[in-house]
Amino acid sequence: MLSCIGPKSNIQPCGSLLEKTQPRQSDECQVTRDRFAEFGFQVSELRLRTSMSGFQILSNRWAFGIASFLWCVTIVLAGPAFAADVPTGVTNIFKPLSTPAQAIYEVSLLVLAICAGIFLVVAGLLVYTLFRFRQRPTDDGHEPPQIYGSNQLEFAWTVIPIVTVFVLFLATARTIYDVQGALPPADALNVTVIGHQWWWEIRYPELGIVTANEMHVPAGEASKRRPTFLKLESADVAHSFWVPQLAGKTDVIPNRENRMWIEPIEPGIYVGNCAEYCGMQHAHMLLRVIVHSPGDFEKWTAAQQQPPVDDPQARAGRDVFFTTSCINCHTIKGTKAMGTFGPDLTHLMSRETLGAGTVPNTAEKLQAWVRDPQTIKEGCNMPNMQLTENELNQIVAYLLTLK
Ligand code: CUA
Repeated sequence: MLSCIGPKSNIQPCGSLLEKTQPRQSDECQVTRDRFAEFGFQVSELRLRTSMSGFQILSNRWAFGIASFLWCVTIVLAGPAFAADVPTGVTNIFKPLSTPAQAIYEVSLLVLAICAGIFLVVAGLLVYTLFRFRQRPTDDGHEPPQIYGSNQLEFAWTVIPIVTVFVLFLATARTIYDVQGALPPADALNVTVIGHQWWWEIRYPELGIVTANEMHVPAGEASKRRPTFLKLESADVAHSFWVPQLAGKTDVIPNRENRMWIEPIEPGIYVGNCAEYCGMQHAHMLLRVIVHSPGDFEKWTAAQQQPPVDDPQARAGRDVFFTTSCINCHTIKGTKAMGTFGPDLTHLMSRETLGAGTVPNTAEKLQAWVRDPQTIKEGCNMPNMQLTENELNQIVAYLLTLK
């Protein structure tokens, strides 16, 4: 807004307060020009002074010092995020270990660098101005000269942002095209992930494997790429699949099939989580992606394709399991337990966690879970089955054999 100087040295917007205090003039800002003249400036001289101030700002050690300080703070804060190239155990977008995550990381660095540059210039000029033009005891109480109407400046602050936004747009569009437009190679692994309140169903249609919350995939090798293409579906509400070191997040929407892919390059355990609020236990809807070397992935596949263990020692528990309503919600492959409402239990004990990462999958926690899941994950869809202590022990003994 163009500012003029009122009769009592208040800065007032042209044509607002000014109108109320004195008659409107044919050129309202004549007041300002007159005021400039009081200070002995012509408008052309002011422009000269403006550009000279720009050079002074650049060369001023204050501005340099402040900029250096801001850079140091940025580096100290961001440094740990860039440290090592290993699966981290915590979600971290700055350590990509998969092709799409790497592409997103690169474009995000460009965006961050441009934004940091803008921040440093704007904040540096602001802080410089606050110090350089602060009130001093020797001030004579006059308003400083008011400057307006520089075509060069207006042109600069119109064109520079347009160019900046255009560069960001092109870089982002290219990354989106590269990631979303990728076609699966012939030997890609296909996995269907189904979000439930509050766990992940993970199906390998070509391998005949169904598991939950822990997705196993092969790592790619320099000689042979082996990306995993995911089909994302929801059984109830909207969820979002996000493993930051492997790929960006993709929403998981009811009645819709979304697709994404990952291509990990490093074996290890990658953690992620549901990234869309989906109800009370949204925070306990964690994801683990276990990346194997190609040989180990073959071994895992072979083990998962085995029928469930039928240990004679656990027959009593097996009988209890098959005569209670457990079988309405859970599947144990090759048996009459064919429920699909809850996780497949065929190889339950091959998983590291229970309740989608809520607790470790130990005998003790499993017992506590079966006794009353609501004490571990309040609001989850598995009720307290009101088992007797004996039934509980027998069922848990049976479940522990499902390796
Ligand atoms: Cu599922 Cu949040």
